[in-house]
Amino acid sequence: MSSAVLVVGSANADLVVPVERRPGGGETVLGGDTTLSPGGKGANTAAAAGRLGADVALLGAVGDDSYGRLLRDSLAAAGVATGHLRTVGRPTGIAYITVTPDGENSILVSPGANSALEPGDITDDVLDGVRVMVTSLEVPLPTVEHAVARASAKGVRVLLNLSPAAEVSRETLGALDVLLVNEHEAAYLLGTAGADPRKLLELGPRAAVVTLGAKGAVVVEADGSTEVASPKVEAVDTTGAGDAFAGALAASLAEGATLVDAAKRAVKVAAVSVTRHGAQPSYPTPDELE
Ligand code: RIB
Ligand code: NA
Repeated sequence: MSSAVLVVGSANADLVVPVERRPGGGETVLGGDTTLSPGGKGANTAAAAGRLGADVALLGAVGDDSYGRLLRDSLAAAGVATGHLRTVGRPTGIAYITVTPDGENSILVSPGANSALEPGDITDDVLDGVRVMVTSLEVPLPTVEHAVARASAKGVRVLLNLSPAAEVSRETLGALDVLLVNEHEAAYLLGTAGADPRKLLELGPRAAVVTLGAKGAVVVEADGSTEVASPKVEAVDTTGAGDAFAGALAASLAEGATLVDAAKRAVKVAAVSVTRHGAQPSYPTPDELE
């Protein structure tokens, strides 16, 4: 029961409310109608890869509730294997999301079942036959760090999407084949905004990709950096665009693409995703990329 791409990460139900502006402390603001859609950085990444036709599995946890079933259905529809998706005795994770008219979001996550993902879930047989493992930080850090160590020891290509930004060990950064960050996460790691992205390699990963929103991405490798431009699109909802990028990148790497070619496809996938509402429901199939 192995897949070429293994995603270790979160699954959330996204409760999305359109707002003109966000409430401050002690303030009440009225928004538009709530929509419910499948999300979570791990499930999104897996769904993006699956939608592109990758052989992909999600290792994660959901609750025994309607949100957990919503996620299982969405993953199945995207072609993601769920043999390593556990049902645990806590509620499925929920993300409370506000989206403003410019398409920007802010997110509050209640991790719930995602917190139950333990290092012990990353057994050796889970990694058998895996070519690329992708992980992100909405599940407990010890689980992520253990997964990275096990995968790298087994010769699996390891990609970490440092989202949401958190302090990971030097050892973990040093075990990464690809560190994926947005501009904020890069600033977090380097201690200053606008720093040279090549500095990310000094932290240990063999390569880094910095996503730049509408500007595309920059790929940093030992022998140089490459800017990858994004197609111009009208953004309505950027929620999960970074996860779409991560899933597309992993799918291409598992097929043997170079990192730069993988990033070129990933910017297109992310660009399509921001033109539609929601995270998983907005991810394209290969024929929608032209
Ligand atoms: O990255 C976007 C995701 O972050 C949303 O789907 C939400 O669930 C939060 O986890
Ligand atoms: Na979207």
